[in-house]
Amino acid sequence: MVGSGNEEQFRYISKSLAHTEQLAAWLARRSIPGTVIGLDGDLGAGKTAFSQAFAKHLGVSDVVNSPTFTIIKEYEGRLPLYHMDVYRLSLDEADELGLDEYFFGEGVCLVEWSSLITELLPEGYLHISIETEDLSERTITVSGLGEPYGQWCRELNENGVNIDE
Ligand SMILES: Nc1ncnc2c1ncn2[C@@H]1O[C@H](COP(=O)(O)OP(=O)(O)O)[C@@H](O)[C@H]1O
Ligand SMILES: [Mg+2]
Repeated sequence: MVGSGNEEQFRYISKSLAHTEQLAAWLARRSIPGTVIGLDGDLGAGKTAFSQAFAKHLGVSDVVNSPTFTIIKEYEGRLPLYHMDVYRLSLDEADELGLDEYFFGEGVCLVEWSSLITELLPEGYLHISIETEDLSERTITVSGLGEPYGQWCRELNENGVNIDE
């Protein structure tokens, strides 16, 4: 993935959960039907925390929990939100779920542990890798594969996550 040429990156140092929420809010605002965001990072890095903030800013009012045991959970916001955790799935099992229906559907997909199913992801998607630095600091690497994700990274590099509207 890295170095594939057709990729833009934005690196974000998050000093708190609130910082992570700002990035999630920026991305939620940009999301359109068919947006796919893959999330990776060790246990406790903040994949679910990011997803909860993202859901909130997509207008989801339900409580968003870790979907580890349910694999896919659907929420209603400004757009449908499909929150997935593929940690417990084999590639074959994931394949059988027919994920394309979600990836190319009317909603937004958040996929925790997406690197386990890279082969099944669409060609274009946004990848978010979260590294734990200490109790509250995370290095978040946002990679845009294809468009509009590359453009999102270019905008983030130019203006950061703050939008004054
Ligand atoms: N900067 C930060 N960004 C995101 N989460 C953070 C940050 N600092 C501390 N946290 C905490 O880290 C934990 C991340 O847990 P969770 O999102 O469940 O991880 P994962 O889904 O990656 O296993 C949460 O308790 C969250 O409050
Ligand atoms: Mg999680």
